[in-house]
Amino acid sequence: MTKKVFITGVAGYIGGSVTARLVEAGYQVRGLTRHESNIDKLKAIGIDAVVGDLEDSELLKDCADKADIVINAADSDNQKVVETLLGALKDSDKLFIHTSGSSIVSDRANGQKSGKKYDESIYDRNSYFCPDPLKESRFAIDKMILQAAQNNLRTAVICPCLIYGKGSGLKSESQQIPNLVNEAIESGIAKCIGRGENVWSTVHIDDVAALFLKVLELAPQGGVFLFAENGETTFKFIAETIRSALKIAAPVAPWAVEEASSKLGYGAAVFALGSNSRVLGVKSRSLGWQPTRTNLAEDIGRTCAQACGSLQTRETI
Ligand SMILES: NC(=O)c1ccc[n+]([C@@H]2O[C@H](COP(=O)([O-])OP(=O)(O)OC[C@H]3O[C@@H](n4cnc5c(N)ncnc54)[C@H](OP(=O)(O)O)[C@@H]3O)[C@@H](O)[C@H]2O)c1
Repeated sequence: MTKKVFITGVAGYIGGSVTARLVEAGYQVRGLTRHESNIDKLKAIGIDAVVGDLEDSELLKDCADKADIVINAADSDNQKVVETLLGALKDSDKLFIHTSGSSIVSDRANGQKSGKKYDESIYDRNSYFCPDPLKESRFAIDKMILQAAQNNLRTAVICPCLIYGKGSGLKSESQQIPNLVNEAIESGIAKCIGRGENVWSTVHIDDVAALFLKVLELAPQGGVFLFAENGETTFKFIAETIRSALKIAAPVAPWAVEEASSKLGYGAAVFALGSNSRVLGVKSRSLGWQPTRTNLAEDIGRTCAQACGSLQTRETI
């Protein structure tokens, strides 16, 4: 029988790419979006769109009740949505997959390198790992999901790091690299926070989507936390690659945290661009997930070309 999946964030970068794979694999997909204008676009790729907001708990409960599998890909930090969905799925033996993000292990390095790497054991009961105070709530949501597996349901938290690559849903671009590309285009200078020696793990969006499919296929018992990563990069490397792709003559320059914060918000500047977030997907690989993509530099070039193309289109209109 065809399995029914309900997914939040269906029009987003991660949710859209996961959904494309689900449709390809023969799942019947219903997805939440806030925009009526997405209905026809989603229908055209085989998705039944539900228009609504994450705040609409009754709608979420109804959609979760009617599905065999529920995926939350809209917001890693929204506790209420997670509580609503877990409540609806209690005692159902259904699978709930939540999307987290590896900034749970981010530090406040301001562009300095750290040697610390974390694997999935940070979520073990006896782990001493303590996230930064501003990341405690995300960490607590993930833990709540893992513990909810005691209520006769299957739960998985998939935690990607810096995702790159062209998304295969309605939204094709990710967050961290496009933000740096846009800043380089606007200011004419490729930038990184401080010296840019800070390191993040990286993963291609196709490999992230493949991990979601792997978990759906296996539907493991209990609660599992999985990092999605396949390599690492420094932000200096990202900035140098952007500089070269955009043919900027000026050297890479430091971007002050205060300035980056005023453009992108404090969390994005400190925890997404200036931090270290080095993770190891040991458990995810033990499930048989085999990420294959490693074309970060080439893809930064694609993102730059895409951003310049959109700019030209806007200027011509
Ligand atoms: N991209 C990355 O590198 C990355 C890595 C790790 C973790 N994450 C986290 O994973 C989550 C999804 O990331 P993403 O890159 O896919 O973001 P995204 O492209 O912005 O997609 C999120 C989608 O969620 C939907 N959404 C947001 N708020 C909503 C609300 N109140 N009600 C209904 N729908 C809502 C939006 O859909 P509509 O516009 O259709 O309403 C949006 O398209 C985020 O929390 C992000 O921080 C991202």
